[in-house]
Amino acid sequence: MTKRDIIICHDADELARKAAEQFVALAGAAIARSGRFTVALSGGSTPRALYLLLGSVDYRERIDWRRVHLFWGDERCVPPDHAESNYRMVQEALLSRISIPPENIHRMAGEKEPRVAANEYEEELRRFFALAPGQVPRFDLILLGLGEDGHTASLFPGGEALNENERLVATAYVERLRAHRLTLTLPVINAAAQATFLIAGQNKRSIVNEILRSDADSFKYPAARVSPSDGQLTWLITADAMGNLPIR
Ligand code: 6PG
Repeated sequence: MTKRDIIICHDADELARKAAEQFVALAGAAIARSGRFTVALSGGSTPRALYLLLGSVDYRERIDWRRVHLFWGDERCVPPDHAESNYRMVQEALLSRISIPPENIHRMAGEKEPRVAANEYEEELRRFFALAPGQVPRFDLILLGLGEDGHTASLFPGGEALNENERLVATAYVERLRAHRLTLTLPVINAAAQATFLIAGQNKRSIVNEILRSDADSFKYPAARVSPSDGQLTWLITADAMGNLPIR
């Protein structure tokens, strides 16, 4: 298990700033190393403050967006202009405020039939990363959130997608949400050079406690299975989500 680097932030603002600084630093290093920076963005509400910051005057000039390629870690199966769309959230908070070549934006087609959209995105990943059969893409950065049930991206406890080891992109039907989702699979997430969780809010305290117990039982939580095999794992977490838990 890769060591989890836990960074406790005073509040959501500090969390967003720390995440933005990490983004800028990793972008600069990756572009210097390989001429591009590949990122899989997280959906949900917590990362929105980060996207707003990256699109602000304080940060947008510090990133060479011509060399940044934005992908999504998961998407809700809705059209890109739907209120639930992770693409729309990023479009409004970031893309509408920066100048990035449209071909650098690799969104998941939530409006299509889930299996068709998943296959198409898998093809796009294979093409973009020039993958040989059986190879998995290595993102420079994957941003992730944590659900109160321990899900991350759209890998839900007990869900089929969690055990998908062949495909790069899986579909998931979430009974309690009566909704279909598209998600990168665990092999892709664990092939990343850097996986960063953004976790905020008192409502996350109990699941954080469960996962940080780090015994076998916590393995049932998808987020506990995120462990880059040759990469870094960072938890940026607010104090109210961490509670008084000791950092192990
Ligand atoms: C999504 C996400 C999901 C999210 C968690 C946490 O599309 O909903 O990718 O995995 O990160 O549900 O969501 P919040 O940040 O809103 O708590």
